[in-house]
Amino acid sequence: MSNRNEAELIHMFKGIPFTIRSSPELLKSLDTFDAREDDVLLVSYPKSGTHWLAGVITKLYNTQVTLTSPIEFGDISKLEELNKLSSKRIIPTHLDYNMLPPNFKNKKCKMIYISRNPKDTAVSMYHYYRENPNLPTIDTWTAFFDLFLKGDVVCGSWFDHFLSWEEHENEKNILFLFYEDMKKDLPKIVKQISVFLDLKVSDKDIQDICKKSSFSEMKNDTEKENSDPNHTVCALTSNRKLIFRKGTVGDWKNHFTPKQNRRFEEIFNEKMKCSKM
Ligand code: A3P
Repeated sequence: MSNRNEAELIHMFKGIPFTIRSSPELLKSLDTFDAREDDVLLVSYPKSGTHWLAGVITKLYNTQVTLTSPIEFGDISKLEELNKLSSKRIIPTHLDYNMLPPNFKNKKCKMIYISRNPKDTAVSMYHYYRENPNLPTIDTWTAFFDLFLKGDVVCGSWFDHFLSWEEHENEKNILFLFYEDMKKDLPKIVKQISVFLDLKVSDKDIQDICKKSSFSEMKNDTEKENSDPNHTVCALTSNRKLIFRKGTVGDWKNHFTPKQNRRFEEIFNEKMKCSKM
């Protein structure tokens, strides 16, 4: 693997590391974005199950919807491109709440935030860093573990991201979901999403959607190129093949040493002391 230099791939914007796939000009212009009342935002910290959720949501509609690329991905022409799309737009983003274009907030657009146990998120992100040429080279899990805890990774600190959104959890236009709940009872969560989006969906449809959204089906679709292999809802790659790795809960146990686990818990308890999580 070639050594991918952090300085060539990463730039800072408002104290948060972004890859050069998100141009500084675009990030600066986000505040001017003209949201529409019927836009649906799909929000996550990377590696939290964004593609899984996107797969479910797009299957719930029986009308024409466009799943766009992430709002922060691209150059200055991005906002114009989004403007040209007809409604309804489903717009993914990894932005924290503070960086979200204010128009989405003013217009009370529906937003779905998906979160995942940060230990599993860290492990998933570590493998993503290793496979993804858009991200700097990481030599060891130990090195990545330190970077993750410091928030010195793309999209910044998991804790800051989660807390920025959790503060708005009770707003009517925001639905908070957890990856682990989707693993435990997908039909229940699909139902919950359909109610939130005001969509009438039969139990039979829900069963079908769950079947088509299983890890193996989604991975197969990507391998068979039944879905566009060059379109992701992640601003860090367009290569869908990098997304479907293991799809399990608890893989952190195969990576964390007992000492790392203690350190993670200490930092988690400190940073999340005001959180309900
Ligand atoms: P792992 O790396 O732990 O396997 P994102 O879409 O936000 O980038 O998140 C990617 C993670 O979600 C990966 O986790 C991926 O395997 C998992 N994932 C994707 N589709 C899934 C599905 N249908 N069921 C369960 N997990 C899924």
